[in-house]
Amino acid sequence: MKALILVGGFGTRLRPLTLTMPKPLVEFANKPMIMHQIEALAKVGVTDVVLAVNYRPEIMERVLKEYEASCGVKIHFSLEPEPLGTAGPLKLAEDILAKDDSPFFVLNSDVTCEFPFQDLIDFHNSHGDEGTIVVTKVEEPSKYGVIVHKPNHASRIDRFVEKPVEFVGNRINAGLYMLNTSVLSRIEKNKPTSIEQETFPAIVRDGKLHSFDLEGFWMDVGQPKDFLTGTCLYLSSLAKKGSKLLASPSENYVYGGNVMVDETAKIGKNCRIGPNVVIGKNVVIGDGVRLQRCTLLPGSKVKDHAWIKSTIVGWNSTVGKWARLENVTVLGDDVTIGDEIYVNGGSVLPHKSIKANVDVPAIIM
Ligand code: GDD
Ligand code: MG
Repeated sequence: MKALILVGGFGTRLRPLTLTMPKPLVEFANKPMIMHQIEALAKVGVTDVVLAVNYRPEIMERVLKEYEASCGVKIHFSLEPEPLGTAGPLKLAEDILAKDDSPFFVLNSDVTCEFPFQDLIDFHNSHGDEGTIVVTKVEEPSKYGVIVHKPNHASRIDRFVEKPVEFVGNRINAGLYMLNTSVLSRIEKNKPTSIEQETFPAIVRDGKLHSFDLEGFWMDVGQPKDFLTGTCLYLSSLAKKGSKLLASPSENYVYGGNVMVDETAKIGKNCRIGPNVVIGKNVVIGDGVRLQRCTLLPGSKVKDHAWIKSTIVGWNSTVGKWARLENVTVLGDDVTIGDEIYVNGGSVLPHKSIKANVDVPAIIM
């Protein structure tokens, strides 16, 4: 089986992290975001994954080569000369996707959930039409693609409205599809095309698009606030399954559960960590540190008695003694926060050194 992951776009909403690393490589729960997807695809028998990219393939190639062998999947890079939108890349990769006549997966690279791909395959095969979209319910549907069903039909889609201005429903496109190869003949070659605005409405007009209801959590983690929420949902789902990926609640530093700690990280004395904390590779945490609802990316350092909540600490950044970070603060790569500094909702660009308090949410350049 085959899959294509849409990896383009500039990830501007996840700045300052994406100034250093392409969005799909940003570690979500200690693994590049995209590896969660590739591993789930491999599990159901996908052998070829096309990554549709339009910038910086070198770093992605380097990082993903390492993973390719371990998950037994061939990763193909399909580089767009210009951004081709969310449908154009499918046509560009037609050679691979149409290799045999079987259906293929398409994924947005920035979504997280439990990826029930086997159920999706079974459902898609059971209705026999052209495409299946995974859908989930959200409270604020206006920033997503919304689907409406045919009256009296459980799954056949009647309308697909991308980013509706007026309320049409709360069941949204989760950014995971299974499509027949016939969909490729609906897309023009070398022309930027939106799968949401053009391709899906066309399949809907022919009555050949279905929805598949997602169970469990779902989140588009393409912006910091949602990245933190998605991390909480993911860690909670691991906890429910009794996963060994979480630190044991009997560790003296774990407070409230849902804590993930890389085995290379060092944690000082008398820390209180949790709930919902991810500590990455080679992170060093001093004594008496308090962490809640945050992600510390690889190589970062938190000095004694710092207090961190709802924050992403970027790679190789340092948080000073008695510093306090909160309210969706995001530190880019190699940032230094001075001792006793307070940051409230700051988005700090790479290589900055912060020596004065940031009292109100701001971008620090
Ligand atoms: N290769 C390539 N080329 N990929 C692209 C391009 C492009 O020109 N433009 C966007 N992408 C990729 C993004 O990297 C992302 O993985 C995916 O396509 C969707 O783009 P986003 O920019 O993240 O879209 P969105 O979040 O506003 O909306 C999409 O996702 C929602 C679910 O999270 C839509 O598919 C909505 O309908 C959906 O509800
Ligand atoms: Mg998105």
